[in-house]
Amino acid sequence: MSFHPRMEYAPAKFHKSERTLAEQGGDFKYTPENQAKFDENVTHYPPEQRKSAILFALYLAQGQQGYLTAAAMQHVAQQIGCTAAEVEDVVTYYTMFYRTPVGKYVINVCRTLSCALLGAERVTEELSAALGIKPGETDPTGTFTLVEVECLGACDRAPVVMVNDEWHERLAPEQSAKLIADIRTKGAAAFTGCHLNKEAQQGAGARGTGDRGKGDRT
Ligand code: FES
Repeated sequence: MSFHPRMEYAPAKFHKSERTLAEQGGDFKYTPENQAKFDENVTHYPPEQRKSAILFALYLAQGQQGYLTAAAMQHVAQQIGCTAAEVEDVVTYYTMFYRTPVGKYVINVCRTLSCALLGAERVTEELSAALGIKPGETDPTGTFTLVEVECLGACDRAPVVMVNDEWHERLAPEQSAKLIADIRTKGAAAFTGCHLNKEAQQGAGARGTGDRGKGDRT
């Protein structure tokens, strides 16, 4: 008799070949401004490692049309010199790339261990109630999308919520509705940001006035 628990084989729907393909979308190419940004960024890498610019290239494409269609991925593949399948592998790996339209503000709630232990599930519930949508949904006005994601890399400041590219650290469940209300009234001005950026700015300000902060060892 085995003491190992019986392990079911993964259902067929989890097989990679069953994943949803991105919509083709209309013709896509970078705007002249984005093409110039890409051309500059790719010079940061050796010519034979052009593929290293893939994340920057994808962010440019996503910023340009809001999400990544198959046509956009094909354009990125041409730009960096790889196959569209390789680009799609990267897009489907990272949760910050979207293959369907999302709201103006994407609310990413970390659900990994540190955040889970400090109430991330309740944060999600409060955000969900404030927005009237469930995780994975976008509100009818196209303003907010709510998603649960894995570790955002700020575990010592859990629970962490990222709105677009900005962190909100130590967000208590009771503060969640206020965060949404603030974004509704103030837009991006409501973003609190990462404490490291704030400390860096404060340090730069102190150095600029000749006032050396406690943490400044130089
Ligand atoms: S576990 Fe939430 S940021 Fe790492």
